[in-house]
Amino acid sequence: MNYKKIFSEIDVELENFKDNGTIANYIPELSIVNPTKFGVHLTTINGKHFSLGNADEKFSIQSIAKVLSLTLAYKLESEKLWKRVGVEPSGKPFDSLIQLETNKGIPRNPLINAGALVICDILISHLKNPKKDFIAFVRTISGITTIDYCPRIVASEKSTGYRNTALVNLMKSFGNIKNDIDVVMDFYFNLCSIEMTCKELSQTFLFLATSGVLPHSKERILSKSKSKRINAIMQLCGFYDEAGEFSFKVGLPGKSGVGGGIMAIYPNKYCIAVWSPKLNKKGNSLKGIKFLELFTTKTQTSIF
Ligand code: DON
Repeated sequence: MNYKKIFSEIDVELENFKDNGTIANYIPELSIVNPTKFGVHLTTINGKHFSLGNADEKFSIQSIAKVLSLTLAYKLESEKLWKRVGVEPSGKPFDSLIQLETNKGIPRNPLINAGALVICDILISHLKNPKKDFIAFVRTISGITTIDYCPRIVASEKSTGYRNTALVNLMKSFGNIKNDIDVVMDFYFNLCSIEMTCKELSQTFLFLATSGVLPHSKERILSKSKSKRINAIMQLCGFYDEAGEFSFKVGLPGKSGVGGGIMAIYPNKYCIAVWSPKLNKKGNSLKGIKFLELFTTKTQTSIF
């Protein structure tokens, strides 16, 4: 399929699109990004590449990285993992505290902030040098050795991380955080600070389109069953209280971040990444979702 031609068609259609979202401003460093940036990159499982716009510019992938921490934790813990975190959609904002109290410190799923914090705690318990070992894992998965954390973003998140600190404290009070709170927060903020381009994003997550096999090295990084389940979690929880709407409009498993990035998987075919910094009220890229809606409609590549 000529994806490049379809990208250009959508680009024309979106010329008058009113992107009236707002850039994330609760993390000061994210608010200084140029809001007009727009990039798309699609990588097929056969190694073909198609891109549009600012696809080679790095940005903060934020919560998209939660899929990578989940992947490593699931690999290390297998089904034991689900004693500490659920697999149900939350239907609530990504940083909500409400359900944690009634669910006694067990987050609804690993992709909301509370769930990702528990996953960070689990990784810290497993890894010798958590930050170093984790970024090495991300480099192995992507086959890209230059992927790294961004210290500027880490510092910025720490300066305003009040809700995340509240979440971790609440979970610690229920016994669902085992390590020191400051260590968990530091690991979590580093995780969210990882930077990638759209091209790197779409290459990194391609293993979820190939049932757990790394396309670049042919190494199996995750079992077929675990890969299927991570896609299932993304489908139901990847967009927080907008997961239903993303399924309805786009029809692919995916994950968003407040940096304006979205990646989505069409199993056995491709991984697509889009970046547009302005967010809707749910914290997901407004133009990014619109682009993907038009793309899966035109290419008829929704999973449904
Ligand atoms: O912890 C936070 O609030 C951010 N570092 C990540 C939130 C995020 O990306 C939610 N995604 N749409």
